[in-house]
Amino acid sequence: MNRIAVLTSGGDAPGMNAAIRAVVRTALDQGWETFGIRHGFAGLIGGDFIQLGRRDVGGIIQRGGTMLGSARCPEMKTEEGQLKALHQLRERAVDALVVIGGNGSQQGAHALSQLGFSVVGIASTIDNDLYGSEITIGVDTALNIALEAIDRLKVTASSHQRAFLIETMGRNCGYIALMTGIAGGAEAIVIPEIDTDPEVIAEDIRQAYERGKPHAIVVVAEGAKYNAEELVKYFKEHQERLGFDLRATTLGHVQRGGAPGVFDRMLATRLGAGAVEALLRGEEGVLVGLQKGEITTLSLSEVVSKEKALDVTLLDLARALAQ
Ligand code: ADP
Ligand code: F6P
Repeated sequence: MNRIAVLTSGGDAPGMNAAIRAVVRTALDQGWETFGIRHGFAGLIGGDFIQLGRRDVGGIIQRGGTMLGSARCPEMKTEEGQLKALHQLRERAVDALVVIGGNGSQQGAHALSQLGFSVVGIASTIDNDLYGSEITIGVDTALNIALEAIDRLKVTASSHQRAFLIETMGRNCGYIALMTGIAGGAEAIVIPEIDTDPEVIAEDIRQAYERGKPHAIVVVAEGAKYNAEELVKYFKEHQERLGFDLRATTLGHVQRGGAPGVFDRMLATRLGAGAVEALLRGEEGVLVGLQKGEITTLSLSEVVSKEKALDVTLLDLARALAQ
């Protein structure tokens, strides 16, 4: 092994920079030349490589986002795009590629691995929906940002005896909504994994008021069957009958842009170093993740063919605790 390259892809996540730093510095320790690829697979296909030394990754561990930039790149989903990507790597005599990203990004990593290139993935997405790692880079920071917002909204909701709806990120997965809903003491949690009728939510809110609560908090994931926009519309249409008003706040990308907390910096650092260790052991076509506190590897073919299940039984706990 002489040369490796690293890229960040898909939705950015707080801690990606710490992972880049760890990959670069531990690879340099091995005497390998290291390259960063800008803007994910788009930069790979376009040949946007930069050489990275120790100082180039200085002062980034505390910064959110990714110094390399990220992108959604539909071309990478095509065979033609994948062959172009492979060509760029071979032309520069790169021996291995580290892909830092979530579900889609690891599909791209897997595609390159199937073409015979040495690839190691690093589990990174705020959604925490990637099979092969119990928790992924960025989740903890994003959860804390969302939770702080919920706490603040609860304060003003209580002052005005209002019902508040808070929409979290989670295109396909309700992890953020479920965790912050429980930790924020929500009266109702709505996730994509379970279809929830708006009337059930209305009943939860009504009961919260009946129990003497000064507020009602509903946390909904953006990918739920009824997201914030649809719920607000429904509640407006039925406001007279239901007897209460619902104010909505969509947290959106604010959840992704925070400075990584200590958990994400440590996780990213360990996974970054773990990727280089995996390459040293001769492993390829694997995802580096965290399982039971240990840094582990799992084949990308298994990672991309399986879905990480959300523990929906926690909804029962949430409901019990909201009484
Ligand atoms: P994330 O990695 O955060 O889940 P996306 O799902 O948007 O984000 O995927 C990021 C990028 O990974 C896509 O824009 C595309 O370049 C690449 N990708 C996604 N799915 C595939 C696939 N099936 N095959 C090859 N590349 C893919
Ligand atoms: O990072 C994952 C994610 O946050 C999803 O939950 C969300 O739907 C998506 O990214 C939105 O990202 P973008 O607006 O960048 O496409």
